[in-house]
Amino acid sequence: MAEELEVLNKGTKAETYRSLLPQLEALMQCEDDLIANMANITAALKETFGWLWVGFYLVKKDQLVLGPFQGPIACTRIGYGKGVCGTSWREKKTIIVPDVDEFPGHIACSSASRSEIVVPLIRNKEVLAILDIDSSELDQFDQTDKEWLEKLVNSIPT
Ligand code: SME
Repeated sequence: MAEELEVLNKGTKAETYRSLLPQLEALMQCEDDLIANMANITAALKETFGWLWVGFYLVKKDQLVLGPFQGPIACTRIGYGKGVCGTSWREKKTIIVPDVDEFPGHIACSSASRSEIVVPLIRNKEVLAILDIDSSELDQFDQTDKEWLEKLVNSIPT
């Protein structure tokens, strides 16, 4: 197993994802533990892109419960349909929030967060978890992030 990632992060964002994803996919081929894979994904994304917060919330009964993450401490439980994460769970789709102050019901785990993307992990039409990424800058996420992060989340062995 590779112990270090070699990521080209001097080009475009798409080039960075294109360089990172195959390495994460290879890492996950050797490991079928969900939490272990989530932990490495959050570390790799945080280290590569330098975002404020990168983490997973896992669906447990009627709540999302905090899972592996990198960044400041965060709220541990989010209800179905609550905040950006709970809304992504309910709608079963990726949500991009260019300005968190404009998202009704946004849950501010960190006052430094300004924009956010949330990507659901879906298997057999059910959401198992969500990937949440926060930036300290406005408008940091777009269709390129959506496309590559969905590809990444879809490649997690479950
Ligand atoms: N902002 C999220 C809550 C999770 S933290 O950002 C880590 C939301 O509104 O669901």
